[in-house]
Formats: sequence, C-alpha cells, structure tokens
Amino acid sequence: EKGGFDHFMLKEIFEQPKSIADCLRGRLLPEEALIQLGGIHNNLSKLAKAKRIVFVACGTSWHAGLVGEYLFEELARINVEVEYASEFRYRNPIIKEGDFIIAISQSGETADTMAALELAKSKGAIILGVCNVVGSSISRITDEGVYTHAGPEIGVASTKAFTAQVTVLTLMALATAKAKGTITDDVFRRIIFELDAIPAKVAEILKKSEEIKDISKLFTFAQNFIFLGRGLNFPVALEGALKLKEISYIHAEGYPAAEMKHGPIALIDEDMPVVFIATKDSSYEKVVSNIQEVKARKGRVIAIVSEGDVDVKKMVDFAIEIPNTHEILQPLLTAIPLQLLSYYIAVLRGRNVDQPRNLAKSVTVE
Ligand code: F6R
Repeated sequence: EKGGFDHFMLKEIFEQPKSIADCLRGRLLPEEALIQLGGIHNNLSKLAKAKRIVFVACGTSWHAGLVGEYLFEELARINVEVEYASEFRYRNPIIKEGDFIIAISQSGETADTMAALELAKSKGAIILGVCNVVGSSISRITDEGVYTHAGPEIGVASTKAFTAQVTVLTLMALATAKAKGTITDDVFRRIIFELDAIPAKVAEILKKSEEIKDISKLFTFAQNFIFLGRGLNFPVALEGALKLKEISYIHAEGYPAAEMKHGPIALIDEDMPVVFIATKDSSYEKVVSNIQEVKARKGRVIAIVSEGDVDVKKMVDFAIEIPNTHEILQPLLTAIPLQLLSYYIAVLRGRNVDQPRNLAKSVTVE
C-alpha cells in the first residue's frame, strides 16, 4: 500500500508530479491557451468583479491561502485577506456584498473552517471551496468549488495536498485575471506554458532526494531551525517550518527574510541552521544580503537556489538547485526540497512521520 516507500509521507511527496498533473488535467489547455474550471463556472464573472476575497483555512491550507493572496493580487488585482478560520469566526467579520469567502481544506471537514463558512454564508457572502476530499462537508456547503484531485493523503503531514491547493489557486487566479482583463495574452500564455511544465520539474527535484538526505544527516540533532523567504516564497518558508516541527519535533520558525533584523536575528549563532529560499526572482538581491547577515553571525545556511546560481552558492554551507520557472509558480517547486528535508530529518531522529504525536489528520473539533 505504501508502493515500496518506507512511509506514506515519502510516497505522497513522490506522487507530486502525478498529483499536480491530475490537478491540471482537463483544466489547463495549453494548446488552446485556455483554462477551464467547471467547478466555478457560474461564479467566474462575479469573481472577476469581486471587491474582496477572504481565504479561510487552518495550518498548511492557510499557507496555501497566503500563496493565493499573492496570486490573486498580482494577477487579478483583487484585494485579498487570508484568515485563520478559528480567528475569523469568533470576530464579527465585515462581509459586504460582492465579497467572496473561499475555504481551503484538504479534508473538507475541519470544524473551524466549516464554521467560518457557515458564518459567511449567513451574512450573504458567496462561498467557494478548494477541497481534496470529494463530497466532504465543506464541498457540500459551498456554492461552488474546485477540487484539488490530489488523491487520498494518508500521511498526517500535508504534502501533495499543499501543492495541489497552490495549483488550483494558480488556475483560479489566472482564470479570474483573464475574465477581468488584468493579464495580457502574452503573459497568460507564458504562465500556462510554464505551469504545464511543472510536473516534470517536480520530478527533477525528486531526483535530488539522496543529496537532500545527505544534508539532513548533518542537521539531525539541531534544536532549532529558521526558514526564510520573501514574496511568494514567504508562505513556503512558513510551510517548511511547520513540516519540520510537526514530524521531527524540532522547534522551527518561518519568517519573511526581511523581518529577521526585527528580532529573530538575535537567535543566530553557529548552532542555528537557517534555510533560505533564495531562488532567482525579483527579491533575489535582497535575499542575498539577508544571507550575508546570517553568515556574518556564523549561522549555518542551507539555501534553495535556482539552477545555474553562482552568488548564493559561494556564500552558503549547502545549496540545493531547482529548475527555473515563472516567478509566480515558484512555490510549487520550492516546497518540494523542504518537504524532503523535514522527512529525512524526522526519519533520522526515529520519529513516526506518518502519525506524529498529538496530531490528527482531520481536526473535526474546535
Ligand atoms: C499540516 C497539516 C495541518 C492541516 C490543517 C488543515 O501538515 O496537515 O496543518 O493543514 O489541519 O486541514 P484541512 O486542510 O483538512 O482543513
């Protein structure tokens, strides 16, 4: 049942070229330069006119929402907020006509996310869902939605569901931008062409698993970890830290790289491993100087870099190269080495990676 893998988590990490392709199938039509999302067909033109989108989610799904925020703002120029479902529902949230509330949930059963939707619905919002489990409670209560089609996720730590959520949000943001006219045909074509190439690029990254395993061996006994990224890779840094803490029980924190000097930099010494997402994008130069700041304080740096990188490689202790893609698609690639890093560290520490202590696959209590 684990298909020859030691754990479901590893199997699911390795399934990602297929799960992302499954998520794109029939929706992304690169030849015709078209995106078809039957699941939100009735609301797409309204979504294009939305004044505001609020994503409600928990945990990893909330991180996918943060990626969605960048995507919808950048491509469709819609104001987005990302809320922890548990916080949103216990405020008196302001919901106006024309607002869309979009729940992101792998299980479709998370109690707080469900309750946030019920509240939004009672206030007259249009509610959409991005769920993995077909027929789940959230998929049934929502007006419309787009399934992630990642297949069953057994490992408690979410991996393939996350990349499928980001894939769906990318498709939704692109379709909305197209309907709204905030994207040129040229840029649209370029992004969908790159999106179509993502599964093969994920497969390329998975070939580096032995290299990542070797790096993990040197960090097995770390007490703490910091994950840093900017822009679209900031949520990936949060997700990398969450993966590591939940399966290895190492204390890990994710931060936007520029926030480091507002506090966390005090933690840096030779015992503090820092994972940087330092791929070639619009904030590359800034991240390079953040790495310098960490190295000057003797932090040990593992960096996720773009193929062909020279500058970062010279500065860091370990660099993991990943293929280049369009900047807005980077989270689909940068998340993968961080999943592998957490997995191998947890296994080396002898943890039960598929069923970490105190955690449940779906949190149906508040
Ligand atoms: C982390 C993880 C959790 C879930 C969260 C939301 O690996 O799995 O943080 O992401 O409990 O669950 P769903 O997406 O089912 O609503």
